[in-house]
Amino acid sequence: MTQPPTLSETRQRLERTGQSHLLAFWGTLDEARRASLLESIAGLPLEHLPAMLAQAATLAKPAAADIRPVRPYLRTHPEAARYRAIGEDLVRRGKVAAFLVAGGQGTRLGWRGPKGTYPATPVAGKPLFRVFAEQITAAERRWNVRIPWFVMTSEANHHDTERFFDDNRWFGRPRADTMLFAQGMVPSVSLDGKVLLEHAWQPALNPDGHGGALKALRAAGALEHMQASGIEHLCYFQVDNPNVHVIDPLFLGLHVAAPDSSAEMSSKSVLKRDVTEKVGVFVKAPRLTVLEYSDAPREVAEARDPDGQITYGEGSIAIHAIGVDFIRRLTDHPLGSVLPWHRAIKKVPFVDPATGAAVEPGEANAVKLECFVFDALLEAQGPIVLRTDRVEEFAPIKNASGEDSPATSKAIQVERAVRWLREAGIAVPAHANGQPDCTVEISPLTASGPDDLRRSPPPKPIPRGGEALI
Ligand code: UD1
Repeated sequence: MTQPPTLSETRQRLERTGQSHLLAFWGTLDEARRASLLESIAGLPLEHLPAMLAQAATLAKPAAADIRPVRPYLRTHPEAARYRAIGEDLVRRGKVAAFLVAGGQGTRLGWRGPKGTYPATPVAGKPLFRVFAEQITAAERRWNVRIPWFVMTSEANHHDTERFFDDNRWFGRPRADTMLFAQGMVPSVSLDGKVLLEHAWQPALNPDGHGGALKALRAAGALEHMQASGIEHLCYFQVDNPNVHVIDPLFLGLHVAAPDSSAEMSSKSVLKRDVTEKVGVFVKAPRLTVLEYSDAPREVAEARDPDGQITYGEGSIAIHAIGVDFIRRLTDHPLGSVLPWHRAIKKVPFVDPATGAAVEPGEANAVKLECFVFDALLEAQGPIVLRTDRVEEFAPIKNASGEDSPATSKAIQVERAVRWLREAGIAVPAHANGQPDCTVEISPLTASGPDDLRRSPPPKPIPRGGEALI
């Protein structure tokens, strides 16, 4: 291990970069905190910070006039069976790994603990991590292959996530097939570019966004691991969506073999529910990109075709297939990755270096920087979009109540289970209007769609008004 810089080296560096206030409390700190402060400062990208802030402040948003709709692939594509077979072959040959980003703080849900520990399913109350683990296990059994699972955490939840996996015996999968690693952190800075102090001995840091995932994969040695084990593509998904099909052969087949795809990065969309839905949308401007809901000019967000369809309606559900070589290319960069920095102006508590007082700001006082993984699309050759079905693949849990809440997610999970059962010819008790009169949950270990249900022994009759776990 290299020695951390000395106090005088650190002092000079801080003077050079205009951040000398970080040592304001040096005289009051004990040895351990001094050492920890020097180490923290050594890890800050101080020389790059002005450029990062300037770049985030001037990040160009596409003008409404330059934005065009995208044409997605559909699941009913005439050659869907061929692409599905190509995707299955890729999985069977061990070329695919699952990649979950779970570093977010889940503040909106108000759940104490990593979001993946949230009991999400309607009958068994399975935590999100278990839902994904069982899907991966089911795919491993189906294709008789080991599917490594990479899980990105953050400093704030890494330890709790690891403990949860441990307590759950890694969900019955070999320990070596799951790799947990924490994403990077960046300093939170005042509006005039000074790194804030969270404590007298600790600069304020925030996670570097899900775009930090690419850099973190490399830093954690995951890319080398993949290269050594022949993994070529990652199935990327977010922690908040229990209906994700983690391993989707049709999507993978299109990703590697569609004529206009270079297998660098592909994405899934669903049609936006209405113009106000809070999802980013895929647009061409002129390259394929995700226009965040907060950035979409009103005339774009609300535009409709003559037939009434939402013009820019391909909502991003944050599911991507990403080539490992592509990640390597993007992370060959002095700052870890080529992805641009976005900024959010937030309230961040801090210690005032002049007075030593702990300040709870009444209004936004700080810039938080983060990268978004979908910005990698701008760097990809021939990225493609597959439009999928909302009920089939999107039941996000984001808020404690209202839209995208546990209640709406459970309703969508039940709707999908009922749909699969009916398609498989299995009776579901229903009200006179056709709505199901029961709460059903289908374990990923039982089925990943109606075909599996047709092949498995029929479940016990579902009680009217009752619950069933199939
Ligand atoms: C996100 C997308 C949006 C998409 C929607 C679909 C962004 C900016 N927007 O919105 O385009 O339509 O999902 O559900 O992403 N995460 C980390 N580290 C971080 C930050 C986030 O791992 O530093 C992870 C979270 O754990 C979560 C995911 O990224 O799994 C999404 O984060 P979140 O901030 O909740 O995004 P949304 O606003 O919901």
